[in-house]
Formats: sequence, structure tokens, C-alpha cells
Amino acid sequence: MTIQLAIRGGRVIDASGERRVDVGINDGQIVALEESIDGAAREVDAAGCVVSPGLVDMHTHLRQPGKEEAETIETGSRAAVLGGYTALLAMPNTTPAIDSAAVVREVQELGRQSLCDVEVAAAVTVGRTGEQLTPMAELAELGVKVFTDDGDGVQDARMMRRALEYGTAFDATLSQHCEVDALSEGGHMNEGAVSSRLGVPGIPAEAEELMISRDVALARLTGAKVHFQHCSTAGSVELVRAAKAAGIRVTAEAATHHFTLTDECCADYNPMFKVNPPLRTAADVAAIKAGLADGTIDAIATDHAPHTPEAKDMPFDQAPCGMLGLETALALALTELELPIETVLGLLSWRPAAIIGLSDSHGAIAVGRPANVCVFDPSESWTVDPAKLASIARNTPYAGRTVNGRVRHTVASGELVVTDGEAQR
Ligand code: DOR
Ligand code: ZN
Repeated sequence: MTIQLAIRGGRVIDASGERRVDVGINDGQIVALEESIDGAAREVDAAGCVVSPGLVDMHTHLRQPGKEEAETIETGSRAAVLGGYTALLAMPNTTPAIDSAAVVREVQELGRQSLCDVEVAAAVTVGRTGEQLTPMAELAELGVKVFTDDGDGVQDARMMRRALEYGTAFDATLSQHCEVDALSEGGHMNEGAVSSRLGVPGIPAEAEELMISRDVALARLTGAKVHFQHCSTAGSVELVRAAKAAGIRVTAEAATHHFTLTDECCADYNPMFKVNPPLRTAADVAAIKAGLADGTIDAIATDHAPHTPEAKDMPFDQAPCGMLGLETALALALTELELPIETVLGLLSWRPAAIIGLSDSHGAIAVGRPANVCVFDPSESWTVDPAKLASIARNTPYAGRTVNGRVRHTVASGELVVTDGEAQR
């Protein structure tokens, strides 16, 4: 058998442990894991590198349809593969919202032409207005496994209960943007000592924690699966820990910025640091890190939220929320979390893959599985330069920050889409 593509000389790491093998790929699949694969039609060098399952981002804003000036499915997927991702879950807060079969099909079709696997999260309610459920069963038949009104939480407890009950018929995951609007409205950053000093209206931790408390109760009531997006406070971590200990079916993610930045970053009123949920205190950052370390938080998500310079470069109180994440998450996690590499990769790859139903295609390096692979040098240090990002948008809060860990090659569905750090299309 002639191997079409061989990844040679790296340390293969996945949930089954670490091996020193070459990876052989034919027709989109991993076909060989051997000590040495010679004579492949094409070889990529992984010497000094980790060869891991492709990363899986369960929280990406791609902006298409409707805001293609900030990002498209193609440009977002290019940023993703440059960051080591081979699968994304596209959030439905587009214009129009992803709340109908027609829009789901449109995003899926554009996803098929992109550089990686683009999965679609559909809205829970029509137009994400919280008033009427979307045709969830019909959307599930198209392959939608996750429903969320992300950008907004489902405010009404009865509506959330109905969505959970309805979704159990097709084993849906309800992914919640945890924010009680009545407490967060009018706020622009974390409510606390820094917001008081700056005179900026705040968003209390309780706006997030109250919704998590409510949804833990609803998950218990309905037996349905609830996933908590971008948990940002120490109290949230504690609520998730207690819910899991009680056997309730909840999972949780933390966004990269919530364990790498604090509300002190807002001291210069720089809108690059405005995000929702907001950057919290150093104590919250420590609690998020502890939650990632002990498994309470299942996944690191990017909440990649592109905004054009025209939109983002506004006074702090008028600027939109959100920051880029796809091209920096792996390096930030490797640099900032004092965790073994396999734990970090679990948080970025196989654990989110399991939550969003991608365990058959992502999250493992094994013969017979689709070739979704990320090759990175864990010790290469580099400095984030917004001008060099593949995203159309430039709103990274990490400009000038030096991080360790650089993606060298990415293979998505068997195609070498990134080699030597360059996107191939
Ligand atoms: O900061 C954020 N930006 N938080 C969200 O929930 C939505 C996102 C966006 O779409 O820009
Ligand atoms: Zn959100």
C-alpha cells in the first residue's frame, strides 16, 4: 500500500496516551500508525512536535450570513485550521439567525466548501427573541445536535423547560449563554472594584450564576443535557461542580480569555477588552483554572467573535462585545495553564468533540478514523501580531503578547490545509 501522506517523527498524543509513531493517511483516513513509514507520496516533518487530534471549538461566531465584512465561513475556517482546529460549532446569532431549515442548509453548504468541519448550532427560539421555539426536530434531522440562543440567554424558565423537554426526543444538547438580562442590562464590564474606580456600569457575577442555578434545576427536572457556555466566575465553577457531583447532566466550557485576562485590562477603556460575559477578577481566573484542572469545566472554547475595526473602535460603552480567539487559543492554553499537554488537548479536542457529538470523526489518532490532525511545536514562542491573523477582523486582545506553542501543520478530513504554518488555500 502506498501511503499518500505521512506525518513523520512526532509525539502522537491523544486520550489513549503518548506514542512515538508516524501517521499514514490515505483517502481522508488514518490508515497506519507505525514506528517508521517510508516511501509516502508526501511527507510532513513533525520532529520536535506533538501530533494531536485536531482541535474542536464548540463556540465560534462566523458572521455568515449577514456580517461578511467581519468574517465569513471560509475566512473563519482558515483562522481555525491555522490555530490547529479541524472542527467548529458555528453559533446561530447571524443575520438572519440560524433558526430555520433554509439557513441551516445554507451554512452547512458553505461549511462543506471551507477548510474544516463546520457544524451548525441552531437557535432555540425563532429570531433568538425568546418567544417561540424553532422547529428543533426538523433542524435535528438536518444534523443539528446543539441548540442555543447564544448572544442571549433564554430568559424565560418555562420556554427553557419546553426546549429541554422537546430536545430529549432527539438527544439534543441545549447550550446556554448564561445571563439574566434583568441584572446585566446597562452593564459594560465586570461589576466590582475596577468598574467602580472607572465609573463604568457593571455586570455582576450573579447575572451568570442565577441562570446556571436555574438551568441546573431544569436539567434535574427534565433529565435533559444542558451545556453552560463561557463560564466566567468562581461561583459558576462551584455551581457546575455541585451539579455534577449530584449526577445532573451538565457540561461547561470556559473561554480562553476568561483564564488569561482580568477586568484590570479594561482600565484604559480599550474596547478590545470588552466581551460578554465580561473579563472578571483574578480570583475568578484562578477558579476557572482550578475548574479546568479538576475536570469541572469540560472544554476550552474560543467564543471567537470577529468585529470590524469600524464597529469595534468605539468608546467603551458603545463598542460591541467580543474578541478573536481561534488563532491564539492553543498557545494561550499551553502557556497559561500549568497542566500536562494531554490534559490541555483533552480540553481543546476530545472532550468538546464528545459534547457536540463528534467523537466518531474527531478527537483521536487511530487507524480507521478520519484524518483530523494538528501538528504543533509546544516550545516555539511567537508574538501575536493582529496584522498577520487570517481572520478578516483584527480584534484580538493579545496583540504584542508572547506565547509558547505554534501550529505547524493541520490535516482536516485528510487534506493538508496548513503546512509549515501557512494555509494552503
Ligand atoms: O462577547 C460576546 N460576543 N459575547 C457573546 O455572547 C456574543 C459575541 C458576539 O456575537 O459578538
Ligand atoms: Zn455567549
